Amino acid sequence: MTSHSPKGAFKIAIAGLGTVGGGVVKALAARGPELSSRAGRKLEIIGVSARSKNKARGIDVAGWTDDPLTLAKGDADVVVELIGGEEGIARQLVESALANKKHVVTANKALLAKHGKALADLAEKNGVTLKFEAAAAGGIPIVKALREGLIAHGVDAVKGILNGTCNYILTEMESSGRSFADVLKEAQAKGYAEADPTLDVGGGDTAHKLALLTSIAFGTAPDLGAIAVEGIEHISPDDIAFASEFGFRIKLLGVAKRMGNKIDQKVHPAMVRVRSSLANVSGAANGVLVDAGEAGSFFFSGRGAGEAPTASAVIADIVEAAGGTLSPVFGRPAASLAKLNLADGKQAVSSWYLRFEVLDVPGVLASITRHLADAGVSIESMIQRGRAPGEPVAIVMITHETAQHEVERALKAIGASDKVRARPCMIPMEL
Ligand SMILES: NC(=O)c1ccc[n+]([C@@H]2O[C@H](COP(=O)([O-])OP(=O)(O)OC[C@H]3O[C@@H](n4cnc5c(N)ncnc54)[C@H](OP(=O)(O)O)[C@@H]3O)[C@@H](O)[C@H]2O)c1
Repeated sequence: MTSHSPKGAFKIAIAGLGTVGGGVVKALAARGPELSSRAGRKLEIIGVSARSKNKARGIDVAGWTDDPLTLAKGDADVVVELIGGEEGIARQLVESALANKKHVVTANKALLAKHGKALADLAEKNGVTLKFEAAAAGGIPIVKALREGLIAHGVDAVKGILNGTCNYILTEMESSGRSFADVLKEAQAKGYAEADPTLDVGGGDTAHKLALLTSIAFGTAPDLGAIAVEGIEHISPDDIAFASEFGFRIKLLGVAKRMGNKIDQKVHPAMVRVRSSLANVSGAANGVLVDAGEAGSFFFSGRGAGEAPTASAVIADIVEAAGGTLSPVFGRPAASLAKLNLADGKQAVSSWYLRFEVLDVPGVLASITRHLADAGVSIESMIQRGRAPGEPVAIVMITHETAQHEVERALKAIGASDKVRARPCMIPMEL
C-alpha cells in the first residue's frame, strides 16, 4: 500500500443522484463533520450530475453539471459513479476519471464484473484507487472483509445470498404458499422488484456480485462468463413445501469454491438446512458465508440494497480514499490477478432434491428408479404425493451424494418419457 499525503479538503464529485447517489449526498450532509474527522480532512462535494436538474430530490445540488463526464476532468479528488450500467456513460466516466488520476468509488457491479481487470490496470497505472464496497451485498462490508480481514489462511469457499429481490420472493412464497408469478407481481407493485425482473430472478445480478467476490477471495480476474447461472423462475410452491418437510429451505446462492486447484463458480437455487445461517436470511436481506480455512467460518448478514445501506458502503470507500490508502482494487496488484482456472462444475458432488410430475399409471416409479440406477444415482428418501384423479402425481426424492452430470444424465432419460409431465426439477442440497 502507498499513501498520498492528505492535505486540504478532499473534493468529491458525484454522478448519479438516484437511490444511492441521493443517499450519499444526504449522509454527507447529515454527518459531514464526523466523517471528515475520520477521514482526517474535510470532505467536500464540489460537483454533482444526473439526467435532469429539475427533478425533486430533497438534496442540495450545488455544483450541478449537465454532463457527468466533465466531473472526470475538474478539480475532484474522487469521482463517485452511481449511474449504473456496464457500458455507456458509466464506463466512460470511470475510465476518464481514472485516466485523469482521480480516485473512483462506484456501486456498479455490472461494470466491474465485465471490465474489472482493465479498470484495475488503469487505476494502478495512474496511481489512484477504484473502490466498490457497495457493489456486492450493499451495506455488508464483505469486500473489505475478503480483501483485508480474511487473507491470512486463504479462502476455500464463499456462499452468498446476494440478491434481495430473489430472497424476498422465496421468503414470501414460503410464508404464503403462493406461486413465483404471484409473488413477483406483488413485489413489482410494491416497488421491491424491477419492471423487468430478468436480471434479478434469472440470477444475473447475483452472478455480477459473485464475479467480484470470487476475484477478491481467490486472486483471479473477474470472469462473469465463467459462471453457470440458474435463476428461481422454475421454483414451485411444491418445491418449497417439500424442502420444508425434509428440514430445508430454498435460497438462491452464488457459490465460489475450491475444487482441487480449480475454482467452481455457480449461481443456482440450493436447499439449505433450516437451522443454518443462510436459511435464516429472510426477506430482502443478504447473507454471505466465508469458509476461511484454518481461521474458520464467518457469516455476514444485513441489508444488501436500498438508500442508507448502500450509501453507507459508498461513504466508507470515500473516507478510505480520502485517508490516502491505495488498497489494490481486487486485493492484489492487477498484474498478478490470475486467469480463473475454472473447475468442471458438472463434476461437483452433492446430494440432490429431485421432483418429477408424472401420470399416475403403473410402472412410472419403476422406470424412474431404473434410469436413476443406470446413471449411478442412489436414493436416500422419497415422498409420493397423490392428487385429484387425472392430475399428475408429484414424486420427490433425495439422492445420496452424486456428481451433477450423473443426475443430469438420468433426468434427461426420465424427462423423455410421455408419462413425465413437466421438466424434472433438481436442486443441490448445501449440507
Ligand atoms: N439501489 C440499490 O439499492 C443499489 C444497491 C447496490 C448497488 N447499486 C448500484 O448503484 C448504482 C446506482 O443505482 P440506483 O439504484 O441509485 O439507480 P437510480 O436510482 O436509477 O439512479 C440512477 C441515477 O443516474 C442518473 N442517470 C441515469 N442515466 C444518466 C445519464 N445518461 N447521464 C447522467 N445521469 C444519469 C439518474 O438521473 P435522474 O435522477 O435525473 O434520472 C439517477 O440520478 C447502480 O450501478 C446500481 O447497480 C444500487
